[in-house]
Parts: sequence; C-alpha cells; structure tokens
Amino acid sequence: MAPSLITNNEPSDIQYTVEKLAALKPIGWSKSTKQQISGYDPEWADKLPETTKERYAKYDIDTSKGYPYIPTSDKIPKFVDEAHAIRNEEFPFIERGKNADPEKKALFGAAKDVINLTPYIGTEIVGLQLADLDDKQKDELALLIAERVVVFFKDQDLSPQKQLELGHYWGQVEVHPQAARISPEYNGVTVIWQEYQNDRTGLGLSFQKSKRGNSQWHSDLVHEFQTAGITHLHQDSTPDVGGETIWSSTYGAYDKLSPSFKKFLDGKTAIYKSAHIYLDRENPLRGPKHVEREHPIVRTHPATGWKYLFVNRSMTVRIVGLLPEESDLILNYLYSVIEENRDIQVTFNWQKQIPGLKSKNEGKKTYRGTSALWDNRIANHNVIHTNESIHGRHGTRVTSLADTGYYDPNSKSQRESLGLELD
Ligand SMILES: [Fe+2]
Repeated sequence: MAPSLITNNEPSDIQYTVEKLAALKPIGWSKSTKQQISGYDPEWADKLPETTKERYAKYDIDTSKGYPYIPTSDKIPKFVDEAHAIRNEEFPFIERGKNADPEKKALFGAAKDVINLTPYIGTEIVGLQLADLDDKQKDELALLIAERVVVFFKDQDLSPQKQLELGHYWGQVEVHPQAARISPEYNGVTVIWQEYQNDRTGLGLSFQKSKRGNSQWHSDLVHEFQTAGITHLHQDSTPDVGGETIWSSTYGAYDKLSPSFKKFLDGKTAIYKSAHIYLDRENPLRGPKHVEREHPIVRTHPATGWKYLFVNRSMTVRIVGLLPEESDLILNYLYSVIEENRDIQVTFNWQKQIPGLKSKNEGKKTYRGTSALWDNRIANHNVIHTNESIHGRHGTRVTSLADTGYYDPNSKSQRESLGLELD
C-alpha cells in the first residue's frame, strides 16, 4: 500500500510526498488562477493580430504548430532552490554605454530627429532603423538609454531574430524558465500578449480590475543575480487607442530625497522576489515561495556613474536590518516618490500616430512596429490597461541582463553630477 500523503515524518514518507509534488505541474505565475498549459498552444495562433502575422510571415516565424510556446512541465523548475540556481553566478557583462562617445555623434548624426519627451526621461529617435545600427551606434544608444532611462523608435521593421541579436550585444539575454515565447528556437524572445495572459492564466483584467498584472508599478526580473539592464519591448500590434506605458526615473526619485534620508539609505540592501512561485523542497506543504535575492537599495549605474533607487512596489519584500513595520513605512514612502511625481515620468503612446490627429487613411499598409528600450535598473514602469486596450496588442520582449548591482559611496546623483539645483 502506498504511504499516505499525510507524513508522520518518516524519511521515506517525506521522500514520497516530495516526489508526488514534483510530479505535479509547476505552480506558475503567482497571480495566476488557472492551470498552466504547456507546449505550443493550439488555439491561439489564429487569434494573432494581422500585423503580427505579417511580421512573422516576413521573417519565417512558423506558428503552424501553435502559438505561443510554453516550456513543457519537465523543463520548468518546481522547487524554489531549482529556480534560484538559474544564473546564480556572475556572468561577464560589458557595459556598452560606458566608453561610448558622450556626444553620440554616430547615432544622432544618422537620425532624422532626436526628440526629448521630457527634460530628464524619455527620448524618441526618428528616421533610424534599429536593425541597421552598427556597433558604435549601439554603444551610443546604450549610453543614451542609461542617461534618458527610456528611448523610443517608431515605424520599425524589426524581425524577432534581429531583436534577439541586439539583446545579445547588450548583455546576457534572459531566458525565462516558463514564460510564453515564440518557439523553443527563440527562447530569449518573450511574448507579451495581455489578451492571451488574461484568458489563459486568469489574470482577470477588466474595467473594474484594471490594476492587474503589469498595470501595477514594477520593474522586471529583480530577483535575478544580475538584474535586467536594457529591456527591449517591440509592439508589432497596437490597438487604435489606449495602452500607454509610463516609466518613472529612479535617478529622479533618489534626487527627490533629503540629504539625511539619502545618507540613511546609502549602503542598505533589500530582498527582492520573483513574479513566479515554486515549492519549498524542505517544506513542500507549507505553500508556494518566490525566488528571493538581495541587492543594494541605492545603486550606482556603471555607464553614467549616477546613483539610483532600486525599489519597486510589486517585487520588493523588505529592507534588510529593519523591523518589518519600519521597512514597510520607508518602502511605501519610496514607492510614492517614484509613482506620484509626474516630473520624473514619461507616458508613451505606442501608436504610430497620436490618436485623434486627422491623417490620411493608410489602408492595409503593413504596420511597422514601435520599440521601447529602457534600462530596467533605473526605472519603474506601469501600463495603462483596461479591458478594451489589451485587444489587438501584441509584442515581443528581449531583456539583456546587466551588472550584479553595486553601490559606490563616491558616486554622485544625477542632479549633483549635472550641476542642477536640488531643492
Ligand atoms: Fe514589465
């Protein structure tokens, strides 16, 4: 007779319980309410927006077996120690922006226009194809992103293959153990398709619950040993209106703090968690756990040398060394600085043209997508979603992992370095 699942702490019973749990499907995304599916999704390839289908057809992305692809159960970690072991050691990283021309002559010289959308966050480059950039321009773009936090390119003809190649240039491309992707051949190309996520994982995004998923302030992948640097989201299909993304500069948020409070935070660390959950091998019945990782709260950007705040509401657990009440109070204040100060934020419309402008009908002309490239170290972001704006929205994301994150006590803040007033 098989031993009962209720263990009496006999080692063989525990082993049996662990094996039974390991045979179950992975738990998946922490907010998911539905059973995770795996492999090619047979029902959704036909539901891809037309412009995504056109992009994939042009660049030989085969969706005939289904779309998107979720790694099969045997490939997904089930225990938190397995997930923690992924990329748990230093990987060589070259900060491409560090030695780039500060004037960015190669990049700006080739562009038709360079438009700063606000004084210190967000720049749009006009008249340049990301796919055509040479290495010098890519280095200058890395520096521009490090300075401006997020850089936009509209009207881009960009294959997923080229997007992946660009990602490899800027760092180790993050391969998620279980997120949806185009196919197993393109593991680093994550599918960002809220309509799919809403239906398949039970995200529950609706008009009354519009603050679900990535509509909450967050930054991506902060549980990684080397956290995300340049993150490149290419939207190949956008609804006619809505779905704006907001980025907030954490250089700016740091500079909003008083000198005494900055001094208090400098050198402190916090614990950060993953979006996905796993089982604790030592105590599998206790409930799911996140991967957790410790990083400095105030970090120094290797390319600009500027200090930035590294916290976000969704994925920061606690400040190390403080009582839980103290940590909550301070973290909530820091989140409010990041989230409520509009002067350190940029809001971006993904549409090729700003909605409402009178313009001639372009008919069935192939849509050329929009790219946003942000440095995930120095930003929090948030999408304005509602039930309507997720329809017809689809993109691919490639994330280049950056440095392990360090605090240099001799580094300056952005405003100190630029000689700007602080009060
Ligand atoms: Fe995100």
